[in-house]
Amino acid sequence: MVVKRKAQTLLDFWTIAMTAAPRIRVLFDEGTIAKRNETLAQEIAADKPQNLLVVAVLKGSFMFAADLIRALHRTGLAPQVEFVHLSSYLDGTISTGNVAILRDVESDVRGRDVLLVDDILESGRTVTFAKDLLMARGAKSVKTAVLLEKPGKRAVQIHPDYVGFTCPDVFVVGYGMDVAHSYRQLPYVGVVDHHDSSPDLFDKPE
Ligand code: IMP
Ligand code: MG
Repeated sequence: MVVKRKAQTLLDFWTIAMTAAPRIRVLFDEGTIAKRNETLAQEIAADKPQNLLVVAVLKGSFMFAADLIRALHRTGLAPQVEFVHLSSYLDGTISTGNVAILRDVESDVRGRDVLLVDDILESGRTVTFAKDLLMARGAKSVKTAVLLEKPGKRAVQIHPDYVGFTCPDVFVVGYGMDVAHSYRQLPYVGVVDHHDSSPDLFDKPE
C-alpha cells in the first residue's frame, strides 16, 4: 500500500515536471525597465526634437513604445505616433538579412524629426532599413531608440542614439518580444529556460 502510494506520488511529480510551462529567467524586471524609460525620455527631450514623429517598429516594440511615449509626454514633449510593421526573414531565430514592409507609415515624414523605436538591435539590418527609408522620404532627422542592444552582432554599421540596456547574446522574450508568437505579454524581459539546471547567464537584476 505504502509502495503503491509512493509510486503514485512519483508519477504525479513526473507528470507535473513534464507539463509545466518553461521557466522564464528574468533579465530586466518591470521596475528596472520603467526607471530606464524615464531617463531615456529625458535624454531624448534634452536633444530638443522639433515637430517630433515617433515611428514604432511592429510588432516587437509595441510595449516599449507605449511606455516610452508616455514617458516623453511627462517630459513635456507632444510627439505624434506612427507605426511601421517590418519583418526580417528568419531562419529559426536567426535573421537572414532581408527586410520586408508589411505595413507602412501613413504620415508624411518630410522635414520632421523622427524617432524610430525598436525592441532590439542585433544585426542592425531592421533599424538601418527603416532609417534609410525615412531619410529617403525626406525626414529632417531620424534618431533611433532601442530597448536592447546586443553588442558584437552587427552586420551593418549603425550606432543607436538611445539604448535602454546592453543585452547578453541570448534569445530574449517578453515586454513585446516573442518566440513563435508567445511571451509578448510578459511585463519584463527574460530568457526561456527549458533546463532548470543550466547555469546563470547573467547577474540577477538589482
Ligand atoms: P536585427 O538583426 O537588428 O535586424 O533585428 C531583427 C529583429 O529580430 C529585431 O527587431 C527583433 O524583433 C528580432 N530579434 C532579434 N533578437 C531577438 C531576441 O533575442 N528575441 C526576440 N526577437 C529578437
Ligand atoms: Mg523587431
